[in-house]
Amino acid sequence: MPNPFKPTAGATPPLLVGRRPILEAFQESIDDGPGAPYLLQLMTGARGVGKTVMLNELGDVATRNGWIVIHATAGPGMLDRIARRASTYRQELGSRDRGPETTSWRITTPVGELGRESQTSGSELRIWSDELADLLDVLEQHGTGVCVTVDEIHSLDLGQMQILAGDVQMLVREGRRISLIMAGLPRAVEELLAGDSRPTTFLRRAERPLLADVPVAEVADSFLQIITDADRSISDELAMECAQATGGYPFMIQLVGYHVWRQAGRGPITEEHVTAGVAAAQSRLGALVHEPALADLSAVDRTFLVMMARDDEPSRLGDIAGRMGKDSRYASVYRDRLLKAGMIRAAGHGLVDFEAPYLREYLREHAAHLVAGQDDGGQS
Ligand SMILES: Nc1ncnc2c1ncn2[C@@H]1O[C@H](COP(=O)(O)OP(=O)(O)O)[C@@H](O)[C@H]1O
Ligand SMILES: [Mg+2]
Repeated sequence: MPNPFKPTAGATPPLLVGRRPILEAFQESIDDGPGAPYLLQLMTGARGVGKTVMLNELGDVATRNGWIVIHATAGPGMLDRIARRASTYRQELGSRDRGPETTSWRITTPVGELGRESQTSGSELRIWSDELADLLDVLEQHGTGVCVTVDEIHSLDLGQMQILAGDVQMLVREGRRISLIMAGLPRAVEELLAGDSRPTTFLRRAERPLLADVPVAEVADSFLQIITDADRSISDELAMECAQATGGYPFMIQLVGYHVWRQAGRGPITEEHVTAGVAAAQSRLGALVHEPALADLSAVDRTFLVMMARDDEPSRLGDIAGRMGKDSRYASVYRDRLLKAGMIRAAGHGLVDFEAPYLREYLREHAAHLVAGQDDGGQS
């Protein structure tokens, strides 16, 4: 029996823990049709909490309802890529190529073409919404629609964001069966929406599920179920011990499950397997989640975090500044950067805490190496 756990970013877990309400709300909105609230969602959550997995799961719900799903990741040319996928699907569905007739249909639509034309300029930008509208035309005959998911929305540039939002808003106004589900890091998404242009106003009205850690008791149940289904055995107590080691953090669920399973070989899972498996999971979490996240930061950002790790509880900004040998204003610049990067979160007045589990321990263990690069230019 192969190891059922999937400790890889974006990989579908053997059992999706704690997310049923989100899936149900989406199904309900698909049933309710155009304009239903959960067709437009902006999901946020820390790294490894399961955003990409949820986009896939919601996409599967849409697919089961006969919708076409287009998954995209934010980045240059994204709208163009969505357009090409839409065009391919439309051709597969057997609709003739877009011709003059389609164009004239467009002109007779009350709000369609005019609005789209007025908001878009470059060719990539016009094509994407036209392609989407054409695909929606075809699907309308089947009573279904299109679900577009956009991952890593925090790295979408403002221009693309405005086109995306403006065009989807237009399709919603036309009463089309269109669903847009986006996911990104909380603070960065907040900033993206902070502007006061009209399309972002539209996005601010999206449902905003915040993906958080899942209940530890449900994690324990999932371990029992997955392991039993695979004809192996684990006691209730050990399943709970594994679950507690995950802290309910989804990435850690897969890591602990994977390594405990691996330790056990073929026989029943014992206390020793759990101890060794949890230790292996913790060190892999560092390599898979913390290390790449820290590598994206500047040396001063990392120093700030290492200074935080000296505390056993949420840190005071003033203390961190003192440890860095700087004033609080200087430190607050880096606090804001780290909030935006999803590394830390506000924990009450003047306090900050780590966002990811075991980050504190990881930083303590690797402090020397992380602060060493101090002079590689920390301003950016
Ligand atoms: N609800 C969940 N239950 C169990 N495991 C999950 C859940 N959500 C995500 N995972 C696992 O967590 C890891 C990270 O998920 P991912 O979607 O890549 O996170 P994010 O996109 O938020 O960084 C993957 O290994 C995935 O299988
Ligand atoms: Mg992801």
